[in-house]
Amino acid sequence: MVSHAERAEIETASASETQQLGFDLGKVAIPGDVLLLQGPFGAGKTTLVQGIARGLGIEGPVTSPSFVIANEHLGRIPLYHVDLYRVEQMDSATLEALAEYFGSDGLCAVEWPDALPGELIEGATRIELMVLDEGRRRFTIDTTADRLCKVFALRAATPR
Ligand SMILES: Nc1ncnc2c1ncn2[C@@H]1O[C@H](COP(=O)(O)OP(=O)(O)OP(=O)(O)O)[C@@H](O)[C@H]1O
Ligand SMILES: [Mg+2]
Repeated sequence: MVSHAERAEIETASASETQQLGFDLGKVAIPGDVLLLQGPFGAGKTTLVQGIARGLGIEGPVTSPSFVIANEHLGRIPLYHVDLYRVEQMDSATLEALAEYFGSDGLCAVEWPDALPGELIEGATRIELMVLDEGRRRFTIDTTADRLCKVFALRAATPR
């Protein structure tokens, strides 16, 4: 079966609204989901992942794993939070370790995913973040998963 990609877009006006969006994504996440988070510094990638963690029932702190590449958190399903900032060329050992997180028993969320090889990210959901101004961000999702797209569509349609 060939599933087709869907695209939806939403704006948030604060970090807490972004966390709410993440929360809703965490609620509908299933094992094997891969979210590639693309956007500049301070766009809100980690903030979104913090919300996802809450939606998965994870209570501890979630910070950007910039120095260790990946953090694992245990929730309803595991959250694998990967940050590849500064990783331009990946060595094979790192790649092998990371590959475990893709199509896994949990949700894998990747900040700065450009260094990932194509075969690893086939079928992955892309979320692009754009900074509109001080507090506003635009999120665009490209996914083959209806569940995830609906989160965006429903939130966009609900006045806050
Ligand atoms: N609508 C918004 N959504 C998310 N964050 C926002 C929003 N408005 C303001 N912010 C602020 O922007 C910053 C986002 O930081 P965050 O660490 O999530 O970004 P990041 O994309 O992970 O950056 P980096 O590339 O450095 O990892 C926070 O300080 C947050 O409070
Ligand atoms: Mg970050």
